[in-house]
Amino acid sequence: MLSTVHCALGSHHSELLLMSELNLCVIPGDGVGREVIPCAVEVLQRVLPHLSIQEANAGWECFTRTGTALPDTTVATIHACGAALFGAVSSPSKKVEGYRSPIVQMRQRFDLYANLRPTRDFGFSIADFRLQTSSASSEPQSQSQSQSKIQNLKSKIDLLIVRENTQGLYTGREYARGDEAVAERVITRAASERIARVAFELANARPRKQVTIVHKANILPLTDGTFRDAARAVGANYPDVKINEVLVDTAAMLLASKPQQFDVIVTTNLFGDILSDVASVWGGGMGVAPALNLGANVAIAEPVHGSAPDIAGKGIANPVGAILSAALLLRYHWHMPAQADRIEHAVYTAIEQGHRTADLGGTTTMQEMTNKVLGLL
Ligand code: NAI
Ligand code: MG
Repeated sequence: MLSTVHCALGSHHSELLLMSELNLCVIPGDGVGREVIPCAVEVLQRVLPHLSIQEANAGWECFTRTGTALPDTTVATIHACGAALFGAVSSPSKKVEGYRSPIVQMRQRFDLYANLRPTRDFGFSIADFRLQTSSASSEPQSQSQSQSKIQNLKSKIDLLIVRENTQGLYTGREYARGDEAVAERVITRAASERIARVAFELANARPRKQVTIVHKANILPLTDGTFRDAARAVGANYPDVKINEVLVDTAAMLLASKPQQFDVIVTTNLFGDILSDVASVWGGGMGVAPALNLGANVAIAEPVHGSAPDIAGKGIANPVGAILSAALLLRYHWHMPAQADRIEHAVYTAIEQGHRTADLGGTTTMQEMTNKVLGLL
């Protein structure tokens, strides 16, 4: 992937890809995953008429039916396609013998070491909507106070969280030792350098060229010290990129209060998981937030949200998270930025025009939203 980040803007390369056959493994999963993924596929096929689709199973329903949450045939299909679009799965809240989350398994199996989670505000209207709902339930505010808050938000939020995706607290090394329950937090220099290279390459290609290294090395000098030092060392090779360092708790506060000041954030696995959910609020929340799991040869796009059992089957889920995830696949894995731009532009335009699903305060259904985006393409 790294060798190709540089040619991410090469249109010749994307034209060749557009003509040749591209393969995608589609894994709807459970709950709203089964609803939003077909919408995203429809949109992808509109910009990639030659896309060849192979459907595969994973998740809780698959586990109850077949005894495995991630069948070997699914793994083989992802491998053969080199790209997948994954919906969401339901996971039991208590330990069930034999069940392991398929997305965590896939990240490890294909060494998908980078998780890219962008947040962009769709312009003024969503931030406005968010501020109105948050100020309605909290302290009363004067007109000028809320005006100035809205004014602040007019400077664009456009940030990208680059989350290390294979280590930290997600290695599954958790055990009991007498009265102690222990989770091992694993950080290596090599993995830290690898994720930092992704962050600096991507930042170097963005207008603001700024990387914020987020860590907690004051409390975790060995693990987060390793991460910070590795990221700094990689950053030294990028003279055009400005480097900041922020402790994770401060980063959470700043993401909630001044999200505009961030460009690229690079951080460890759990911090990235939590911070990207905080950031997602500015982009319209869970129904909108996209993600891409990226490795050297395989990429898996997935909306950040889960299977949403509370709204599953009602046709009201927001398809935008899944659609924008498909756009990330185009941008960062297939290196087709023009097609990614087309999809993102259609989505933002639809929302700007006032087409919003229930999670964004509107009444547009999932299929209506998808049709709007298709129409704008
Ligand atoms: P969730 O993301 O499914 O839902 C959280 C809230 O966001 C709910 O109110 C839901 O209605 C809303 N929401 C989610 N997706 C939406 C969409 N597309 N449009 C509109 N609203 C949407 O998270 P929750 O409730 O914590 O977990 C539900 C199930 O999903 C659990 O079994 C959990 O394990 C699983 N999960 C799976 C993930 C994955 O497969 N990557 C990620 C997170 C949760
Ligand atoms: Mg999460």
